[in-house]
Amino acid sequence: MKISVIGAGYVGLTTAACLAQIGHTVCCADNDEGKLNLLRKGILPFFEPHLEELVTQTCAAGRLRFDTTEVAVDDCEVIFICVGTPPLDNGDADLSAVANVARTIGQWARGHRIVIEKSTVPVQTGQQLKRQLQLYVSRGLRCDLVSNPEFLREGSAIEDFFHPDRIVIGVENDESAERLQEIYRPVLEQEFQCPVHSACGARKKPSWVVTDTNSAELIKHASNSFLAMKISFINMVADLCDAVGADVTQVARGMGMDPRIGSAFLNPGVGFGGFCFPKDVQAFVRIAAKAGCDFSLLKEVENINKKRIEHFVEKIRKELWVIRGRKIAMWGLAFKPNTDDVRFAPALELLRVLVREGAEVSAYDPQAMDKTRAVFPEARYCSNPYEAAQDAEAVLILTEWEEFRNIDWDRVRGLVDRPLVLDGRNALDGAELSGRGFHYVSIGRPTLASHLGEPEAENPAAVERGRMAEAL
Ligand code: UGA
Repeated sequence: MKISVIGAGYVGLTTAACLAQIGHTVCCADNDEGKLNLLRKGILPFFEPHLEELVTQTCAAGRLRFDTTEVAVDDCEVIFICVGTPPLDNGDADLSAVANVARTIGQWARGHRIVIEKSTVPVQTGQQLKRQLQLYVSRGLRCDLVSNPEFLREGSAIEDFFHPDRIVIGVENDESAERLQEIYRPVLEQEFQCPVHSACGARKKPSWVVTDTNSAELIKHASNSFLAMKISFINMVADLCDAVGADVTQVARGMGMDPRIGSAFLNPGVGFGGFCFPKDVQAFVRIAAKAGCDFSLLKEVENINKKRIEHFVEKIRKELWVIRGRKIAMWGLAFKPNTDDVRFAPALELLRVLVREGAEVSAYDPQAMDKTRAVFPEARYCSNPYEAAQDAEAVLILTEWEEFRNIDWDRVRGLVDRPLVLDGRNALDGAELSGRGFHYVSIGRPTLASHLGEPEAENPAAVERGRMAEAL
């Protein structure tokens, strides 16, 4: 089928390349001519595992090309809208890019079009879009509107496209549902050449969920908000564990065994980030408020998340006492592993706080350094974790990259000024670290002192605590 995908960001480019991989002929459009030119040369604007190969292969096979929005909407009957919906200052989603695409469709497309909104949008946006597109009926445009929310995660977006749990479509009529089923048939049947797994084996077929457009839009916001709620919940449980001397890993494991709760998204840490959860929770609160519902539960989810960095800084302060002038190694900048995305990344907020407080931060991330440097030139960026750890008085883990699980800790021990690790993602094996002479602090789990017997007196915070205790 001939399909156009408008927007060459994370969602659009992934969708375009994957639709091309399952056999469609795809025209991917963007209003950034520079980005289109780079894409035509096979240069991607962001890092996503497997995507570059997929773009190269599908372009070479003649099933993926890049063009302007005007050409794309003129050319194809099926149009996926995958443009950004960033937050406005008041927390609402900015729908101007979606509206611009609708205008372009109205001005350039003639005949029948299936317009599929994939961008994350507030409920009733589909209805609004439909009204806007109907203004062009007199010019010969007939549109069916479909909401097809995406559930791709950055870092595993390709895998998520090919092996989703469910595909949700919100439709106005049966014909649109049938066309969408045709588009997704290879995924629904799990019959395709998988770019992620050499042999997929017997994979579970995804559920096909057909709803009205309003419900489909709500499924997306409600899903992201619910997952964010799980994270804030476990983060509070972690704080409680810290306060009473329990272990959040054991608590989460015990909770997650109940299938009604599930074990996913119960990893505590420095909070959720990225371009989806923070903005979607905020937007969902606003959407509910406009509809007369006070979703105060989600406001608290946001509040808890906003305090995670403050909480982590307190942990650092407890160990280092004074932050000014301290040499701190920061490992991990991306908002999660396998992406170079630093938008709303907790690590960036921490970087800002530490630099503001006068720490000398040496940062390292396997993928996200260029993007961080562009927004935050003040830090020192290192080419590997060991260089960042040189003379450090604390090593902080902010993103759970696999690389950090395979570190030569004896080497790090020889480089640092003080063997202190604060793990903001509970990513490391604390027992191993303490066995190798590190003082290991994590989130909601007991702090582990060095097994090599680091004298307490080396810890300035402990010295100060001792002094204060004596004074009392
Ligand atoms: C999220 C959803 O998971 C996708 O289903 C959705 O399609 C996407 O948003 C979107 O709306 O486009 P993503 O933002 O890529 O995907 O990342 P997640 O893997 O969901 O992680 C979000 C944040 O939560 C990260 O900062 C991560 O570190 C944090 N997190 C996640 C935790 O702190 N604890 C957890 O247990 C899980």
